Amino acid sequence: MWGGRFASGPDAIMEEINASIDFDRRLYAQDIAASKAHAAMLAKQGIIARDDAVKIARGLDTILSEMEGGKFRFKRALEDIHMNVEARLADLIGPAAGRLHTARSRNDQVATDFKLWVRDAIDAIDAALAGYQHTLAEKALAHAATVMPGFTHLQTAQPVTFGHHLLAYVEMAARDRSRFADARKRLNESPLGSAALAGTSFPLDRTMTAKALGFDRATANSLDAVSDRDFVLETLAAASIAAVHLSRFAEEIVIWCSPLAGLARLSDKFTTGSSIMPQKRNPDAAELVRAKTGRIFGALTALTVVMKGLPLAYQKDMQEDKEGAMDALSALTLCIAAMTGMAADLKPDTARMKTAAGAGYSTATDLADWLVRTLKIPFREAHHITGHIVAAAERAGLPLEKLPLATMQAAEPRITKAVFEVLSVERSVASRVSYGGTAPDNVRREAKKWLKKLDKTARAR
Ligand code: ARG
Repeated sequence: MWGGRFASGPDAIMEEINASIDFDRRLYAQDIAASKAHAAMLAKQGIIARDDAVKIARGLDTILSEMEGGKFRFKRALEDIHMNVEARLADLIGPAAGRLHTARSRNDQVATDFKLWVRDAIDAIDAALAGYQHTLAEKALAHAATVMPGFTHLQTAQPVTFGHHLLAYVEMAARDRSRFADARKRLNESPLGSAALAGTSFPLDRTMTAKALGFDRATANSLDAVSDRDFVLETLAAASIAAVHLSRFAEEIVIWCSPLAGLARLSDKFTTGSSIMPQKRNPDAAELVRAKTGRIFGALTALTVVMKGLPLAYQKDMQEDKEGAMDALSALTLCIAAMTGMAADLKPDTARMKTAAGAGYSTATDLADWLVRTLKIPFREAHHITGHIVAAAERAGLPLEKLPLATMQAAEPRITKAVFEVLSVERSVASRVSYGGTAPDNVRREAKKWLKKLDKTARAR
């Protein structure tokens, strides 16, 4: 492509380090769409002849079907997707192909192509997260009243409902989706027509190409347009936070399914056996979701390091933006699918959950609240009295609801047998009716709200 000035070809190592075709071939559909938009605009502006534009468009369509059909021969000597397409276009339509690169550069081309690719990835991730939320909300509705232990410091804290716990992940996924949507909004400006770095002397209509490619507008500064990779960084940042959330749920599944906890079980669909220990049922998928977080963070870190300190405008360093991002976004997509599958598959052991929910004096706060509400004792004092009662129960080896009234009255004489009404785990969760609380009524309302919202947006899609 730059043969005019070069007497010999590149060293084999030069070719190897320089070529990006092994990974940027994944941009083929975007590259062809952007070239078609550019050619149509050049013709409309009278920069190239209309019949050349028609030939270019037909040739590009042929190339697209060759690539889709796996019949295209990618050549590493042609370095990247842009030159592979252009060289093939020249084979197909002859000299007219040489007019396509008028008023553009690979610098604005690659920025445009990769924005289109990342935008598609964001849309696919958003749809996958919506499906994940739907699965969780359905399960939450089914388990609105299933009592499980709630933990802080991984110590039994207070009883909660399984549905409430699942809806916590629906909220996280909602924030993830809004972060992706936000990144998409800022991404959606077209670099095409910025050319190498300075813009061009040709009378382009950049708004026309922007609209044709679904961008909101054209970028306003050519130097920024060809050297901006914020859209990749932001998307990877959103992906990293989403991966954090998935890894937390994955870790909980690992803990719940351990015989040590025994709170839930995954079926054969989402577990593997051991080649030596016949009894094993390993939660490999959950462990891998937990682990793949590493490569997603890695891609974000790698690209922030690549971009740091780069002077304007395009630098070849920026070619390193693609492999990590493509790998990370594919990994995230797979992780969302795996977590959706596991969320549907996961079967809570409701009896075991209920027993565990009551262990460790988990309704002690309910007792303290009763003292405040019924006897008008200040909370700090109620906390102190309850501490004495829990200590007495521990000495007697009894749960709170089995402790004799007399033992409680030794700590606070005004306690009546009415106190026993608040000490069961069901009463405990049913009483947590504050907005955002774990009460089954709240969970049912929230789960239904989510399902309605998700069904509505799925229909609009
Ligand atoms: N393969 C390059 C990349 O991915 C395309 C842009 C190359 N531009 C250049 N002037 N060498 O960034």
